[in-house]
Amino acid sequence: MAKDHAPSCYDNHSPFDEFNDPGAQDADRLVQLAKLEPLTDGGLRTAQLLGRALDNDPHHHEAQILQERLFQMFVPRWHFPMLADKGRNRAYAKAIAAKVKPGDVVLDIGCGAGLTAMLAARAGAKHVYTCEQQPLIAKAAVRVIDANGLSDRITVIPKMSHDLVIGKDLPEPADVVISEIVDTVLLGEGALATLTDAMHRLAKPDARAIPEQGTLMAQLVESDKLLDLWRPHVAEGFDLGAFHHFATLAQITPNDFAACGLKPLGPAIDLFRFNFARPSMKPAQTTRDLTCSDAGTAHAAFVFFVMELAPGIQLSNGLRSDGHWGRTAYLLDRPQRMTPGGSLTITAQHDTSHLSLVPHAMPPSQQDTAQTPLWTEREPGDALPPWDGPYTHAAPAPLSVCWR
Ligand SMILES: C[S@@+](CC[C@H](N)C(=O)[O-])C[C@H]1O[C@@H](n2cnc3c(N)ncnc32)[C@H](O)[C@@H]1O
Repeated sequence: MAKDHAPSCYDNHSPFDEFNDPGAQDADRLVQLAKLEPLTDGGLRTAQLLGRALDNDPHHHEAQILQERLFQMFVPRWHFPMLADKGRNRAYAKAIAAKVKPGDVVLDIGCGAGLTAMLAARAGAKHVYTCEQQPLIAKAAVRVIDANGLSDRITVIPKMSHDLVIGKDLPEPADVVISEIVDTVLLGEGALATLTDAMHRLAKPDARAIPEQGTLMAQLVESDKLLDLWRPHVAEGFDLGAFHHFATLAQITPNDFAACGLKPLGPAIDLFRFNFARPSMKPAQTTRDLTCSDAGTAHAAFVFFVMELAPGIQLSNGLRSDGHWGRTAYLLDRPQRMTPGGSLTITAQHDTSHLSLVPHAMPPSQQDTAQTPLWTEREPGDALPPWDGPYTHAAPAPLSVCWR
């Protein structure tokens, strides 16, 4: 069939490809070759073969399905709402314009579609080196940057930042390090490990960082709807309480967040602060009281971040924010009636990439005994799955596949 669309962007004309040209083959044969590829290259060769198949036959059903699966596997879906998040984009644009000076060498960690790298070039950087661990994404970024006429100012390096070498990948250490690698609770995309390595090894001693710092915060919230969503008590007349212990951590999509109407019962307090310009890999633990200023029923401890990109330029996924980031709430085993001045004690811990938060049991004197327990407690014999140790910095956060 004659070509009726532009050639695939995964063809052979880029320095990322080290493969032999598959040559003139029919679409069926190219799809068969694609299915034999091992994907150890991050899907590059498979994408190239499927792209060629679709160049030959744009209506090839199996090639369409496999290409979609490949993209879903290697390009997390949150990239799209993230790029459409105007508040995030504007905050980065302002911070980069404020902190990147003409003549700076910039390292942008996590190129994605290339937006932050292009903002740095626009701000006057002498040159921007931007690394991207996912080769398909890196390859697409090269095309985005080229389409915007910035190829001579930006170098896309299809590598993990941890594998960059001064003198090889960058000619000199960076004056500014830009990153946007935080999940709903800051740490899950490996920001601390990545920035600890980059600021020590790939940046000048007095280098600037965007973001500069981040704080994890917590506050008590009331939301019947959140419970209805995460711990439906009854379905068609059946009691589901014994299933609820699986849902201690509510990972709330932006849409569900808008629908659940989480009501703050008291002020937010700091749990942990991170200096991203001078980061360190220190696990930490804190025990804090979450206090109530309003009467109500506490259903969860809501955790969110406030990130300072540059002085006065903040991003947050707190209760009053919108944007693409999801939200995280630690559900209480039992809803607690709270009165103004009351408090709930929690212990929060992080191991530099994961956060845990455990509410303490309320002292009997403060428990609202009038309230009928809504849920069945965890059975004493219930075992948790074995903990197989911390993920490495390279492991994608398992729950960030659909949203962050
Ligand atoms: C959240 S996106 C941000 C993209 C772009 N900087 C922006 O703000 O629009 C982060 C990207 O960084 C990549 N990434 C995360 N950690 C990385 C690392 N240590 N080295 C290279 N790439 C990384 C991910 O694959 C993802 O594409």
